[in-house]
Amino acid sequence: MSIIRSVITGVGSYLPERRLSNQEMTTIVDTTDEWIVERTGIHARHIAADGEKTSDLALHAARAAIAHAGIDVQEIDTIIMATTTPDNTFPATAVTVQAELGLHHGVAFDVQAVCSGFVFALTIADTFIRCGQSKTVLVIGAETFSRLLDWTDRTTCVLFGDGAGAVIVQGATGEGTNADRGILTTHLHSDGRHRDKLYVDGGVSSTGTIGHVRMEGREVFRHAVVNIADTIKESLTATGMTIDDIDWFIPHQANKRILDGTAKRIGLPPEKIVVTVGEHGNTSAASVPLALDGAVRDGRVKRGDLVLLEAMGGGFTWGSVMVRW
Ligand code: ACO
Repeated sequence: MSIIRSVITGVGSYLPERRLSNQEMTTIVDTTDEWIVERTGIHARHIAADGEKTSDLALHAARAAIAHAGIDVQEIDTIIMATTTPDNTFPATAVTVQAELGLHHGVAFDVQAVCSGFVFALTIADTFIRCGQSKTVLVIGAETFSRLLDWTDRTTCVLFGDGAGAVIVQGATGEGTNADRGILTTHLHSDGRHRDKLYVDGGVSSTGTIGHVRMEGREVFRHAVVNIADTIKESLTATGMTIDDIDWFIPHQANKRILDGTAKRIGLPPEKIVVTVGEHGNTSAASVPLALDGAVRDGRVKRGDLVLLEAMGGGFTWGSVMVRW
């Protein structure tokens, strides 16, 4: 049976120049390098420069992904941008990216699912391609998350950083089997009962301010391990595959301990997990494509590999995308 598959043909990422180490963090809040590394695996995060906007980070990543795919920018007919830190409340940051890329056709819009944003945006891209709405989609996860932080709150400010990642997704013909190149299955969830466990205490219609990140760390941790393990299992069930079939697990980079806990729960060998959180902390919607880009460019992820992407974030929101590279 011949079907349309969504194939990731290019990937790119960008981290701002300014690197803020744990050691430097100790001059900002009462913390230590040992505490941060032991509880999170984070060694440093990158911070956008004054005046550097989310769209600027996104453009760096987008241009790298376009070059990697080897396409003409004018082939892009859809831009889906996952961000919680838009340049402005409106218009969507995606339209700024569209204009800066010199595109005057197609559609560009933002998606807000916090740390799960990239997985949500990629799932929308897959749906648009399979139903004929789009042919070539630029999917971006980009954040200037540092601007949402309370830099006096050591329980949150050590965890997050800024960055961007992007992929080009294009339609291709497949056989309808697990051997096809492209996205094989996607699964998304949200449960708003937990919206006050990880949130920002401001907003347009509530306080009229931007607000700061607030989090019940232990509760987030507990739910993250369970939800991530569940969405991995559902993608395996949907495709009839087993954990041994997975070549690379590329999770949302929130916290090394969450990744270790998930791996243990589902029996995934640690050497199959791509971990980049140490270098950039939690970059929210940017973290999955940042990790993916690293693993593709250093040669770990190769054509034909089975790659499982996953994320969990505020809401709670969570989901997974299984891709044959
Ligand atoms: N430096 C030093 N001490 C600290 C720091 C810090 N940066 N932050 C908190 N502490 C202290 C606390 O004050 C507390 O001290 P006390 O015992 O004297 O009261 C002690 O460390 C233990 O605090 P806990 O919050 O219980 O520490 P825990 O072991 O739960 O670790 C952490 C905290 C790392 C936040 C953990 O709960 C976690 O990883 N949660 C998941 C959060 C996360 O990843 N969120 C990202 C967004 S969601 C997502 O992307 C999946």
